[in-house]
Formats: sequence, C-alpha cells, structure tokens
Amino acid sequence: MNIQENISLKPYNTFGLDARAKYFVTVKSIQALKEAVSLDNYPEKFILGGGSNMLLTKNLDCLVVHLALKGIEVIDEDDDNVLVKAYAGENWHQFVLWCLDQNYGGIENLSLIPGNVGTAPIQNIGAYGVELKDVFESCDALNISTKKIETFSKDACQFGYRESVFKQEKKHSHIIISTTLKLSKRQHQLHTEYGAITNELEAMGITDPTIQDISKAVISIRESKLPNPKEIGNSGSFFKNPVISNSQFEKLKINFPDIPSYVVSTKEVKIPAGWLIEKAGFKGKTFNNYGVHKKQALVLVNYGDAKGSDILKLATLIQKTIDRIFGISIETEVNII
Ligand code: EPU
Repeated sequence: MNIQENISLKPYNTFGLDARAKYFVTVKSIQALKEAVSLDNYPEKFILGGGSNMLLTKNLDCLVVHLALKGIEVIDEDDDNVLVKAYAGENWHQFVLWCLDQNYGGIENLSLIPGNVGTAPIQNIGAYGVELKDVFESCDALNISTKKIETFSKDACQFGYRESVFKQEKKHSHIIISTTLKLSKRQHQLHTEYGAITNELEAMGITDPTIQDISKAVISIRESKLPNPKEIGNSGSFFKNPVISNSQFEKLKINFPDIPSYVVSTKEVKIPAGWLIEKAGFKGKTFNNYGVHKKQALVLVNYGDAKGSDILKLATLIQKTIDRIFGISIETEVNII
C-alpha cells in the first residue's frame, strides 16, 4: 500500500480547508480497502468519501483512507425499470448525468449535489421534492471487524430526513462500497411540484418536461443560489431544517407572522433554517475569510484560507442566536470533525 505522510486534505474537502492527514492512502479496489482497514500499525482510521459534508476543524492524526472505488453497472432490468449499481468513489453528479444519458429517471431532481455515490445514503441526500430513499434499492457495506460485505435493504438503512443507520449505530462499523438504485426506463414519475422548479421550467418555456429538462432546471436553480465549491468553499446546507410542534409554531407566528413552514405531520411543521438565519441578521455576513452565503443563509462559506475552527465558532454563534430569538435549536447537517 502506498501510504503517504503529512498530506493536505484541501483538495479532498469541498470546504477547501487545509487540515492535514498524518497518513493517507487512496484505495481503488475492495481488496485494497480490506487491506487498509486491516493495517494494525495504524490503529485509528478515518474513511474519506467525497468530502462534501464535513467541516475539518483539526488535523487528522491517523490514517485517512480515501475511497476511490469506481464503476457503474446495470445489474438487472425489465421493460420498465433498471437496477443500477454504482461504486462509492463515483462522483454523484457525474452518475446522475450518466443515468440521464441512458434516459434512466428518478434522480434528475438530485442533479449537482456535491459528493460521491458512497456517501449519498449516509445522509439520504435530498433536494427539490426527492430524496435518495425514493429510488434506493440497497447498498453494500464492508463490515470493518468481520471484513465481510453486507447488503443493506432500504428498510435496514432506516432513512429519515438527512438521516440513516450509517449516521447512527453503523457509523463506525461499516463502510459503504456501492449503492444500487431502482430507476425508471419509461413513464418517468416527474417531480415538478417544488415551486422553484415550476417557475424555472416556465421561464425555460417548457410545458411537457423530460427528465433531462428537470435536471437542467434544477442545475439552473442550484447555480443561482448555491455557491460552486470549486469557486467558494462550502458544504451545502450547513444546518438541518428544524422540526417544531404546531403549538410552538402558532406562538412564533404572533411575533413573526411571515415565518414560512412545511407540514411534516398533523402535529409538526418544518421551518426553513435559512429563513431563521436570515431573520437573525446573518445572511451575507462576512468575517475576514469566511461567512454566511449572500444568496442562501443556510450555507456557510470559506472565501480563502479560513480555519475550520473559525467556521465552527460562527456556526455555534448562529445556533445560540437562533435559540435566543426563536427558542429553536438547529442541528448541523455537516459532520464536524
Ligand atoms: N429562506 C430564506 N432565506 C434564505 C434561505 C432560505 O428566507 O437565505 C427561506 C425561503 O422562505 C425559502 C425557504 O427558506 O422559500 C426554502 O429555501 P430553499 O428552497 O432554498 O430550501 P432550504 O429548505 O433552504 C433545502 C435543503 C437543500 C435543498 C433545498 C431544495 C436542507 C437542510 N436543505 O434547503 O439541500 O437543495 O431544500 O430542496 O434540507 C443540502 O442539503 O446541502 C442542500 C443544499
């Protein structure tokens, strides 16, 4: 194994933070991954996927195992549907484009989400009315202690809003090596109910959209609101949208009549954290080389050589302020390392 020392992780995290790995190895096969996790002289390992959902607040004093397993294969199909397996190191958006080229439908709304195929199930990525779980068939994961590959069905993954078993009890025991999705080959189920998509399609002059049109609309919306990590370091939504009770919502409406909400159940509503953060005055705020994005307050950004620990301090200040003003605690969506 080619184990390198003292490697900058800047190219490996979309926040563009210059934390360092004491030891670093890239694995391109399942065999190499098994060998890497078996290296007893490196007792602590950190598994790195697309690096799109983490805030590195310190150097990693361990062996960083960079997952670069590649490959996309059709494993089964009939006239209507296809099962497509993609390996963990495939870039998510490139995979979406590949599916669109084959005219496979189901993930067009998830266009341009940063990260890799292997990390998509961990937080059940979602956008514009679709979540990964809607098309998820199964995923294969390496059990680190037995070195066996286990298959997780959709139920076994326990998907929730930006949640799965891989963020909970399987967090340290399993590494996802591939994800299999069930996609449509014809009579695609389009999800255009999200307001911004309807408006964008209208602006594009499209009345009878294809899955490719929806992807283009989503790309255009995302590009207009969300910073491109290649230009400005970021990890997409930094916080989750909080879920509160109907009674708390009714009380908040007295002081904040314009507070937006989405119904979650008969008892609860979800509040856009971006709105809370904007209302608290943080939108577009810049502190030297980091801050809150100008066009979407849910996104924290690194404008240059910011430190992860500074961005974490800002995140904590935002959380405390939101709690003080609205009595709502907002959780980070991004993993703090
Ligand atoms: N809003 C503001 N100010 C802001 C941002 C948002 O007032 O600065 C309010 C507006 O009322 C707006 C509402 O929030 O109508 C919703 O905003 P948006 O449509 O941008 O969606 P979001 O709830 O902020 C979520 C996901 C995004 C996903 C979009 C679209 C979470 C944490 N985030 O954002 O996911 O792209 O919906 O479906 O659920 C990500 O996870 O990294 C991500 C970008």
